[in-house]
Amino acid sequence: MTGRFDGRVAIVTGGAGGIGRATAARLAGEGARVAILDRAGDAAEAAAAELPGALGFAVDVTDAAGVDAAVDGVAAELGSVDVLVNNAGITRDNLLFRMGDDDWDAVIGVHLRGAFLMARAAQRHMVAARYGRIVSLTSVAATGNRGQANYSAAKAGLQGFTKTLAIELGPFGITANAVGPGFIATEMTDATARRVGMEPDEYRAQTAAITPVRRVGEPADVAATIAWLASEEAGFVTGQVVYVDGGLDL
Ligand SMILES: NC(=O)c1ccc[n+]([C@@H]2O[C@H](COP(=O)([O-])OP(=O)(O)OC[C@H]3O[C@@H](n4cnc5c(N)ncnc54)[C@H](O)[C@@H]3O)[C@@H](O)[C@H]2O)c1
Repeated sequence: MTGRFDGRVAIVTGGAGGIGRATAARLAGEGARVAILDRAGDAAEAAAAELPGALGFAVDVTDAAGVDAAVDGVAAELGSVDVLVNNAGITRDNLLFRMGDDDWDAVIGVHLRGAFLMARAAQRHMVAARYGRIVSLTSVAATGNRGQANYSAAKAGLQGFTKTLAIELGPFGITANAVGPGFIATEMTDATARRVGMEPDEYRAQTAAITPVRRVGEPADVAATIAWLASEEAGFVTGQVVYVDGGLDL
């Protein structure tokens, strides 16, 4: 059977867990050779070991030299860089008056600087090949969410970043889009539950009750949308933000 990503090489940052891992599995399942770049190197290698033809690398997306070396290494080893999924992310939630400088810098650093460094490194290969798909993870929190001034700013920033990439890179056959999940059951939302003093199951049930489709999202829900935007057939879709949120209105 032929897959949508046969012959394609995809890089997924933060692919050791959660949405990134599901995305790596989805792309590999449809024929891509996937490189998982994650700060957690051992977990990246373990995730890659479960996928045909995948490789895992220890990379911190905020480290410019490390990012350049990893992206060039993937291109050298796997032959190209056709798809980039900017998924790596962290939260450091706090109300503004309690938010430390480090909380701000860490969140802006991983999401915004990380996506910038990865896209800059990847476009060199994509422009040369006159083909590329860049998908970055934003969030429903981009329009504001209590306790997430740093995260909201980073995710809103990624939307402007995405629009700009779409304008600059479109002439080279490269599209750039963003996917904005609502509540997805991952380690990130489990950590939020614990921070607000709830059990993860209780927190998921509470969120499902206020979500129009009456459930929380699974990583595979987001992976399916990322895979569509990363596919060849989505070549006339660029500069867009697609929300995958079950209708949740924060
Ligand atoms: N879970 C949700 O409900 C939700 C909602 C909206 C948006 N998102 C976004 O989706 C993306 C994935 O979220 P998730 O819930 O799967 O998170 P997660 O915490 O389960 O996984 C994040 C991954 O990113 C990696 N990572 C963190 N910092 C890194 C760095 N500096 N360099 C390389 N890798 C790094 C982690 O090691 C981890 O494997 C994030 O960008 C997040 O902001 C998640």
